[in-house]
Amino acid sequence: MTTIKHFLQPSDFTLEEYEYVMERARVIKRKFKQYETYHPLLDRTLVMVFEKHSTRTRLSFEAGMHQLGGAAIYLNTRDSQLGRGEPIEDAAQVMSRMCDIIMIRTYGQEIIDRFARHSRVPVINGLTNEHHPCQVLADIFTYVEHRGSIAGKTVAWIGDANNMLYSWLQAARIFGFHLNLSTPKGYEMNMALVEAGNTHYTVFANPSDACEGAHLVNTDVWTSMGYEQENAARLKAFDGWIVDADKMRRAASDALFMHCLPAHRGEEVSAEVIDGPQSVVWDEAENRLHVQKALLEYLVKGRVE
Ligand code: CP
Ligand code: NVA
Repeated sequence: MTTIKHFLQPSDFTLEEYEYVMERARVIKRKFKQYETYHPLLDRTLVMVFEKHSTRTRLSFEAGMHQLGGAAIYLNTRDSQLGRGEPIEDAAQVMSRMCDIIMIRTYGQEIIDRFARHSRVPVINGLTNEHHPCQVLADIFTYVEHRGSIAGKTVAWIGDANNMLYSWLQAARIFGFHLNLSTPKGYEMNMALVEAGNTHYTVFANPSDACEGAHLVNTDVWTSMGYEQENAARLKAFDGWIVDADKMRRAASDALFMHCLPAHRGEEVSAEVIDGPQSVVWDEAENRLHVQKALLEYLVKGRVE
């Protein structure tokens, strides 16, 4: 039996695989910008399963699959049998007999792990409570486009210990950069989600100190999807963890600002920063399309050159 390659968390790929996929993303992006038809996935089908809301992930996968010559089918919990308790293993068996690749946005990582174990085709994580690997892939691609290699650089993470942070932590080890992170009291990392032996991070009590000398300052919502009932308590606890102009001044003079979006101006980031000259949030969002097209090509067809 051949093993199927999935993309469930950043550590599923080696640095060499990332370098290959990012090179393909550059080629595919160039073709897109030149309106050059490129249909490596002609007649192939992507099934997308959404158990949480999405704008960017749905749009980038659906448009991307179309642009590669294939088709994308959208399923959600409300309309499909998933919302009525069909076992995830059964859903995986059935769906993977009817398509070439599957993307899932769901709650616990164990759900996508179980699904992948019973799938005949590659499975991509479109966000779980624990990881958002497609976003970090797009973010690193964006950093490299603007500033060159991220190896040896310092990335500040200001805010919640959420899916994005755990994916950035894995990426730090793979790409060889350092993460300076600061989360409020009571919202610290769950160490069970940090790989043993990962020394590529430093924890700071003060969020401004975490920004000192950083080449990239990164944040995300204070309340992720699935945690809405904690919103009021989080608004209080995260007071002071806003990425504002004062914090950006502590970073390197050519530091970039990133946010995976959607953003809340005045909470995790000031309007001045997210709408200012150091922010590359729109490039980050656009690059979801290009890197995921490269990812789809790689997982369905393997290396094409
Ligand atoms: N950044 C991101 O994944 O956005 P959506 O929730 O809109 O898909
Ligand atoms: N951490 C956020 C990311 C949204 C793209 C969430 O999980 O809701």
